[in-house]
Formats: sequence, structure tokens, C-alpha cells
Amino acid sequence: MNSNGFKFSSPRQGVVSGQSLPEDSGQEMVSLRPERLSEYIGQRETIETLKIAIEAAMLRGEALEHVLLHGPPGLGKTTLAHIIANEMGGRLVITSGPALEKGGDLIGMLTQLETGDVFFVDEIHRLSKAVEELLYPAMEDYCIDFVFDKGINARSHRFRLKQFVLVGATTRVGLLSSPLRDRFGIFRSLDFYDQPDLEQIVDRSARLLNLQMDEQGAVELARRSRGTPRIVNRLLKRVRDYAQVRCDGRISKSAVDDALKLEGVDSLGLTSLDRRYIQTIIDYYQGGPVGIEAIAATLQEETDTLVDVVEPYLLKIGLLVRTSSGRKASADAFSHLGYQVDQA
Ligand code: ADE
Repeated sequence: MNSNGFKFSSPRQGVVSGQSLPEDSGQEMVSLRPERLSEYIGQRETIETLKIAIEAAMLRGEALEHVLLHGPPGLGKTTLAHIIANEMGGRLVITSGPALEKGGDLIGMLTQLETGDVFFVDEIHRLSKAVEELLYPAMEDYCIDFVFDKGINARSHRFRLKQFVLVGATTRVGLLSSPLRDRFGIFRSLDFYDQPDLEQIVDRSARLLNLQMDEQGAVELARRSRGTPRIVNRLLKRVRDYAQVRCDGRISKSAVDDALKLEGVDSLGLTSLDRRYIQTIIDYYQGGPVGIEAIAATLQEETDTLVDVVEPYLLKIGLLVRTSSGRKASADAFSHLGYQVDQA
């Protein structure tokens, strides 16, 4: 970690940090991450857009336009920032909206960037207004305006920055102000991965971890991973432990079934929080419609966790419906939790 408390990683340096890292950027996950666009599985249109934009920027000898990535957690936003830095031959500097409390925090980081570096701001929708406004000229003209003193003594000094690439990531693009959103040249939303893509991802991870896994094992892991690479890789590691201790080490369908039962992951890949969420709508609010604040209060969970982590997949698979008057559990949600549903 450097004096500003942020983290550099690059193809030349690796990750340089004294901080403890979140689960998905730990040593093993870094090695499971694809490093190049050519290794990336899924999100084909986003990958094609990035390939073309990166190649064109390199041909012109210019910096890549700033990139905004939107989507639920675990779909590859951070991985893509790593890949963009690798493809451009620059370093990756990582921070997040909540970590940039004051203007000085941002200035300290921007002034250390070199030409071609990628500046990754996770949860960019949580930047304060003051920091966001400093970012506008930095993104548009690669400069920042320092203001000294106040009132009639106020003087400003324009500081030139190197041509960096800002990669912003957000789970809530609707919370971004339009001046900030409009300063990104490339904007892509990542969607949940389909079954064949997740099977390929888990197959690749098993090979990298030197695991023996049969086809049914891979199919079952992919099916229960909520369309999310981070989850398929996490479950793979839980099943690896289970298979090593309780079976012959091979990852088969029955090893996956037994290990995921212990993990509380059900036949659709739902966790206990997902099930408690639906159960609450059914038991306390007669299936809805009900507002998110009421559900969060009953569950004693953060609204943001429910909106960012729980709801997107339930909406995707049709267990949850959002209406103008609130959230409703669908007929499939009732049957999944074992209620008798009369067909109308
Ligand atoms: N590991 C995690 N996500 C991946 C992806 N999209 N492609 C290949 N490997 C991955």
C-alpha cells in the first residue's frame, strides 16, 4: 500500500498492497480471473465493444475512452478493469466511491497516475458531490483545478494530469447524475451468465485448480450459481473441500448435491437470505405488493443489500415481480417454497 492508502496492480508489478483483500481479489481468485479479453467467457457484446475500442485507441496512440460498467455484484466488473489495464499495458489503481471522502483523496490519486493507467472506481454512484465535481474536468480535459483561499482572496491553479482511463463500476446506474454518466464514452450493462457460459467458466476454474470434475458435476454447479461467475467459483471451492474430505476428491453431481446442501444452497441456487426474502413477502404481506423498506425492516437487513444482491436474480428468474405499488411474490415463488398454487 502506498502513502495514499490505495492499491496498485499491474502486469509488471502484480498486486501491491498491505491491505486485506476482499474474497474475490484474494490470491486464488486472481489466478482464476481471466487476464485477457481472449480468455473471457460470456458477455460477448461487451467484450467485442472493448476489443474494438482498445484496438482503435492503440492504433491512434490515444487513451481509451472512459468506461462505465453496470450490473449486479460478481458478474465481472472488476475483472474487466484488470483486463483493460493488461490490454493497454498500464497499471490498475483501485478505489471506491465511499473511500474517496474528500477532494484531497481524489487529487492524491489522480496526480500519481501515469499515461495509460486505469483508474478503477467501484460503487461510483456513492461518490460525494464535491468529489464528483472534481472528476468532471479530470475526465474531460485531464486536469484538475485547485482553489486556494476563499472569497476575494480565492486563486485557482490548473494542474495537468496524464491521460488515464477511468473505469467506473456501479450496481445502480440510476443513481448516477447525468453529467457524470455523460462523461463516459463507453457504457455497458453486464447481464447474468447463461448455463453454457457458466459451465465453461467452472470447467476452466477446475482445470486451473487441478481438480477432477465430471460433466454432471459442472452442469449442477453452473445451474446453482445464480448466473454469477463469482458464485460458481466460490461453490466450486466448497465442493472441492467436501469431495476431498468426504469422497474420493472427484467433483461429481452427488458431491455437488451433498456439499451444497450443507451450504444451504437449494435446487435453484437460492441462499437462505433469498428464501427468507420471499418467505417474508408471503408470510407477512400476503404475497405483496409491499415496499422494499417494509421488507428490509421485517428481515432486519440493509435495503441496499436486498436491492443490489438479492432482488436482481429473483427478478431474472421470475420469482419476484416489481409493480408500481411494490414487490410481489410470483406463483412460481409460492410453489418453490412449497405452497399449493391453484391455477386460475
Ligand atoms: N472466471 C470468472 N469469470 C470468468 C469469465 N467471465 N471468463 C473466464 N473465467 C472467468
